[in-house]
Amino acid sequence: PKIEIALTVNGARHDIAVAPWETLLDVLRERLHLTGSKKGCDQGQCGACTVLVDGERINSCLALAVSRDGAAITTVEGLAEGGELHPLQAAFIEHDAFQCGYCTPGQLCSGVALLHEGRAQTREDIRELMSGNLCRCGAYTNIADAIETALN
Ligand code: FES
Repeated sequence: PKIEIALTVNGARHDIAVAPWETLLDVLRERLHLTGSKKGCDQGQCGACTVLVDGERINSCLALAVSRDGAAITTVEGLAEGGELHPLQAAFIEHDAFQCGYCTPGQLCSGVALLHEGRAQTREDIRELMSGNLCRCGAYTNIADAIETALN
């Protein structure tokens, strides 16, 4: 049996019937065809699936879609507004903060949350607060550079 839920994703409302076991990540990718959010580990270990739910970052592979009924979700597809890149996206380009790009959507969503959280004062804080987002290419220095630029 499916359950009707409403999700507002990047400003658009979707009424959707989901199975109780469907994760938010699968609903975003497979039902709404928003494939920016990536499935790296599907176990909450890598951060590639990070999205913003009511402004807070979560690993969408660990969230059941039914538990987010009524939530406002922002994915990487929704970060740019009015044809303008989010300042953090621009900083990622400026600092070359990716190699293969697979982790980038999660890094960006996590980084945007970090900017709003207001807890990062130092470079160490940035590294610590971004530690849930893995990058197999090892672009960590450039990612931290980009976030530092966007913070200042
Ligand atoms: Fe969700 Fe890795 S896919 S944390």
